[in-house]
Amino acid sequence: MATQTIPPSAEAPAPGHALKLAVVLPTLNERDNLAPLVARLEQALGPDGWEAIFVDDNSPDGTSDAARALALKDRRVRVIQRIGRRGLASAAIEGMLSTAAPYVAVMDADHQHDPNLLPQMLAALDSGEAEVAVGSRFVEGGSAAGLSSATREKGSHLANGLARRLTGVELTDPMSGFFMLPSATLRATADRLSGIGFKILLDILATADEPYRVKEFPLKFAERASGESKLDRTVVFEYLIGLYDRWLGHIIPTRFALFGTIGAAGVVVHMVVLALFLESFGGTFRNTVVTPFEVGQTIAALVAMTFNFVLNNALTYADKRLSGFGELVAGWIKFALTCSIGLLANIGVAAVLVRYDFNEYVAALAGIVIGSVWNFALSSRFVWGK
Ligand code: GDD
Ligand code: MN
Repeated sequence: MATQTIPPSAEAPAPGHALKLAVVLPTLNERDNLAPLVARLEQALGPDGWEAIFVDDNSPDGTSDAARALALKDRRVRVIQRIGRRGLASAAIEGMLSTAAPYVAVMDADHQHDPNLLPQMLAALDSGEAEVAVGSRFVEGGSAAGLSSATREKGSHLANGLARRLTGVELTDPMSGFFMLPSATLRATADRLSGIGFKILLDILATADEPYRVKEFPLKFAERASGESKLDRTVVFEYLIGLYDRWLGHIIPTRFALFGTIGAAGVVVHMVVLALFLESFGGTFRNTVVTPFEVGQTIAALVAMTFNFVLNNALTYADKRLSGFGELVAGWIKFALTCSIGLLANIGVAAVLVRYDFNEYVAALAGIVIGSVWNFALSSRFVWGK
């Protein structure tokens, strides 16, 4: 007869499985960085007690496959592959919510963050010395050598004072993408995080009911190991978005506000281009089928639309930015299609309203609003949806 095995008690962790720390690593085209990173994590954290969670947004370079290949050899490695989703902040949040470990850290997967800080950060949380541990480039002993530009560093300093007001916490590097906290702390406020952009730490700190006790650890921000940076939006800009998001984001969603502001700037661009065209070529179209206005209006619309596309790609959707020639051209075409349907909706709505005796300007405004909402809804789905 087979002997019955006694199931282990639920409280006693199985040997070698006392999971303490999950290191969440959002990835976008980081294929070649993964294996060396896991090796460095092992060096810093020892053989067990931790897991590495790669959260990959379906990178075209096959990062998810590379992560799965690693996970097959190493059970400490886990993979979340997101399809049809993009964004560093939301990837970090999803990774942090996917673990049973009592502590979570978020780190860049490109080797710019030093895993050797992890044990000190963990010790500070474990002893109760701090509630959140942050790797800082600007605290004594840290360095920002790997920062891509001097402006970025300046921007960081400027943003710190503002960040203090937002979070109630004194921080030298509020935009740091390297931090650790108890996973329960994260879960307690996760439903209030915005998940937009890459100001995830700022967002977590600002969402706290009481300011967290934060300890900073000097981080020598290294050069990227391979691949390229995706996040060159300035910290000041990111901070302003954060502010808006908190104060007005529930009334007019942050991305829509950005989209609308850029759209309004696009109207100015349109008028300037049209005026310049009429000024220069207004007299040269005699006896032709098309009038100077028609040509000018077409050119102005195309320029304004391209202006909108470029700015939305750089700012509104910086965290989901399209890059590379093919992606940009495809995005531009989809954006153009979206806008033409939006224009039809705009004219249609305005025309109907005028028939029902609405004031022409009120009708025009309603058309513009409907058209913009349409453009926003469609382009967020089809142009930047992935
Ligand atoms: N899943 C996912 N989705 N991961 C992403 C995305 C995304 O849309 N965008 C970037 N990542 C990953 C990258 O693969 C990398 O592992 C990490 O997030 C950071 O991205 P980088 O593109 O390397 O950012 P960076 O080096 O320019 O910016 C760093 O410094 C900023 C402060 O100056 C990051 O640490 C930021 O978090 C930080 O705010
Ligand atoms: Mn980086």
